[in-house]
Amino acid sequence: MTRAWNFSAGPAVLPESVLEELSAVLLEFGDCRAGLMEISHRSKPFVAVMESARERLKQVLDAPADTTVLYLQGGASLQFLMTAMCFAGPEDTAVYLDTGSWSTAAIKEARRVCKVAVPFSGKVSQFTYLPLQDGEMGPIPDEAAFLHYTSNNTVRGSQFPAPPDTQLPLIGDLSSDICSRPVDVARHDVIYAGAQKNLGPSGVTAVMLSPRAMARIAEVAAQRPGGIPSMLDYSVHAAKDSMFNTPNTFGVFALERMLAWVAAEGGVTHFQAKSARMSAALYAAIDGSGGFYTAPVRPDSRSSMNVVWRIQDPALEPIFCKEAEAAGLLALKGHRSVGGLRASLYNALPEAAVSALVAFMAEFARSRG
Ligand SMILES: Cc1ncc(COP(=O)(O)O)c(C=O)c1O
Repeated sequence: MTRAWNFSAGPAVLPESVLEELSAVLLEFGDCRAGLMEISHRSKPFVAVMESARERLKQVLDAPADTTVLYLQGGASLQFLMTAMCFAGPEDTAVYLDTGSWSTAAIKEARRVCKVAVPFSGKVSQFTYLPLQDGEMGPIPDEAAFLHYTSNNTVRGSQFPAPPDTQLPLIGDLSSDICSRPVDVARHDVIYAGAQKNLGPSGVTAVMLSPRAMARIAEVAAQRPGGIPSMLDYSVHAAKDSMFNTPNTFGVFALERMLAWVAAEGGVTHFQAKSARMSAALYAAIDGSGGFYTAPVRPDSRSSMNVVWRIQDPALEPIFCKEAEAAGLLALKGHRSVGGLRASLYNALPEAAVSALVAFMAEFARSRG
């Protein structure tokens, strides 16, 4: 085995105990006499997996009992369209906070199906801060259908400390920080998250919907000529318990095991404390490097999941990544759209990985600084 510390932004590191459980079910699952990926999604054993995955997400996030949980496909990227399609009519305005590449992508999809207002865009400041201080947020229309925000900006390394304060129905993209800290599910009408960071492999998207959101879909469908296409309609998926079409059975199983692991490790408060320690150690290493390393994100907006930084001389960044990899520290290159360096500190990353990275950074700065 040559597994190294894996700082990938997603798909990302998974706990070894979960990986062992996954490999065990490939050949034979329970008493099915066939592997997990070889049985029908409508078989009793798989239906039980799906039910457990729904219940576990609610338990782990302490969600209201009447929350609808769906496991869909198409990634968080399809949610950009589905949320707008189902919760804003063609003449409605939806409000988006543009805090990074994924918010920008969500806005692009929403504009296809409704009107969009953007009271905050971080674009002009290279997305280095979130609208957390007085005067940073523009006026929010009272009559809007919903407010959409990206809880953690995976590419730029910023994170809302709490959901934005609004009276509007709230939709959150929690793809890169779900289950890393407590979240007030009841304050949201919709939460969605691609699984491939804190919840398992890619190919499954978790969606949580309030009763109010579920009731709103029929109203919006009536405003759309031809209604809402079945695959984009949450109520269609809900009526079939996420089995309107064949779900990603392996992905849902993996997600169910991940949620069991999160609970067994101590739940979201445990991971909140852990990622706070890990990110603090990393930001301290950056801020204490005498300018050799710099973190572009304003301190109040910094993410505890994706830490991004630069080296004073950017020509050293590829060398840093290459030497880090040789030292057993993988996937530290920043997103291809922004460059620089990034360490993703998802739930399954052991704290020892961050200690190793901090030591490597100190030695690199000493030898090149
Ligand atoms: C915050 C956020 N939203 C959306 C996406 C897009 O997810 P997907 O690739 O599952 O469509 C990502 C992917 O990294 C993300 O980090």
